[in-house]
Amino acid sequence: MLLDGKRAIITGGARGTGATIARRFVEEGARVVIGDVREDEGRAVAGELGEAARFARLDVANEESWRQLVDGCLAAEGRIDVLVNNAAVLHMGNIENTSLDDFRRQLEVNTLGAFAGIRAVVPSMKRKGGGAIVNVASLDGLIGMNGVSAYAASKWGLRGLTKATALELGRDGIRVNAVCPAGGNGQMFAPWGDQLAAMEDQTRAYVADRAIPREATLVEIADAVVFLASDRSSFCAGVDLPVDGGHTSGSFVAGFNRF
Ligand SMILES: NC(=O)c1ccc[n+]([C@@H]2O[C@H](COP(=O)([O-])OP(=O)(O)OC[C@H]3O[C@@H](n4cnc5c(N)ncnc54)[C@H](O)[C@@H]3O)[C@@H](O)[C@H]2O)c1
Repeated sequence: MLLDGKRAIITGGARGTGATIARRFVEEGARVVIGDVREDEGRAVAGELGEAARFARLDVANEESWRQLVDGCLAAEGRIDVLVNNAAVLHMGNIENTSLDDFRRQLEVNTLGAFAGIRAVVPSMKRKGGGAIVNVASLDGLIGMNGVSAYAASKWGLRGLTKATALELGRDGIRVNAVCPAGGNGQMFAPWGDQLAAMEDQTRAYVADRAIPREATLVEIADAVVFLASDRSSFCAGVDLPVDGGHTSGSFVAGFNRF
């Protein structure tokens, strides 16, 4: 088992990708604390996973909330080996439909939330001689995308945070890496569901020229997180691993395969 005996915190684990990461971590032998603002869903996921999982309310944008979570983990488990910064919110809107408050909220949860999490776990990780931190960024943190400028900025920021903290903490045995998925939980797009359904041909075309022409499954994303959280990735630091079916490798032109 890749994570046997590891103590892990997974933010945004109440549903979607984070819940799948929690399930995969427990399958690989970890004990997990699921931190989320969605209390009922978070408790349900932890309940389904049994004794190896616990839910704790966490607002990643709030430093006091982090302090309580980390103190609780250290009291119950004695140490924190892994932090997965997966929690995020999405704002869809072109630049004129994105207010400064919208932009601030993206940075506050998606970027500052991870920063606050790293700050909260690093002292105890240093004391025990190391740890692994995995940030869930996005394909939108590797390339540009119209209609999501604030979200993309927050995810590019998260990649910068990943690389800078990897350098800062590597000598303390703490590895910081990121996964950049193309795909996730469709519920994240719920507020724009009707508009997106009406432009399905365009969203299908967006994935059509990938090496693997589809979206990532939640398990494929979770497996990349498992790898970067495990000792199998012991020489990876500051990596931003695309789980994107080759989207960032370039474009596939069907006719060219016949030359
Ligand atoms: N959905 C996609 O298509 C997609 C694509 C690429 C990357 N991602 C990234 O994957 C990660 C997981 O997203 P998902 O697809 O599972 O979507 P999701 O909306 O199901 O999950 C996000 C989780 O974060 C939690 N959260 C939001 N604000 C929080 C806060 N302040 N404190 C604590 N928890 C908070 C939510 O309650 C939710 O459970 C995110 O980082 C997201 O940006 C998603």
